[in-house]
Amino acid sequence: MTKVTLILGSPRKGGNTETLAEAFLSTPGKAERIDRFRLYGMSLNGCNDCRQCWSRNRPCIIDDDMDGLYASLKESDTLLFASPLYWYSWSGPVKTLWDRLLPLHGDHPGGFNLEGKRAVLIGAAGDEDSNCFQGLLFSFRRSCSLMKMAIAGEFCFGGLFEADAASKKPELLQKLKLAGQSVL
Ligand SMILES: Cc1cc2nc3c(=O)[nH]c(=O)nc-3n(C[C@H](O)[C@H](O)[C@H](O)COP(=O)(O)O)c2cc1C
Repeated sequence: MTKVTLILGSPRKGGNTETLAEAFLSTPGKAERIDRFRLYGMSLNGCNDCRQCWSRNRPCIIDDDMDGLYASLKESDTLLFASPLYWYSWSGPVKTLWDRLLPLHGDHPGGFNLEGKRAVLIGAAGDEDSNCFQGLLFSFRRSCSLMKMAIAGEFCFGGLFEADAASKKPELLQKLKLAGQSVL
């Protein structure tokens, strides 16, 4: 059974991104373990490009809440990136998280990387035009490719502006539930 790390990139508790992500994960018994990380509220510093990844027997020299995330990423086989669309890209903390994945790219003696892990994208936007996700998708695809992660699903939905918009679309939530059943 799969182990999942859920990265929640919205400041709105119970907002669209979270509603979609939880629908994806809602089938009981599909995942052995789900670690949920609500990035807003965590202490996450930006990568400072010190080039000291793994120099202290840990991925990063910065002492903050990434430690718990690194531990989860190591153990999980499925990583779920759930972000609202902010200015056609990730919300700020999700971008910060991606930057902090630098130590998990490539080979490091005694370290680990994300090669072979499955990555899933969930995105929510206000815009009705699905082209609005092009920047997010480009970043996700190229980053996964560089890190040799396998893309297991991309679920981006527009027309979701108010925080409760997704929760008012049962057909959308059912779609996410079925997607989760097949991907997990
Ligand atoms: C700072 C900010 C930037 C946003 N930028 C975009 C955008 O570029 N395109 C878009 O369609 N919606 C944009 N939105 C709207 C959100 O993507 C939309 O409301 C989404 O459903 C929020 O998801 P959430 O409920 O999970 O927070 C933006 C919202 C905020 C607060």
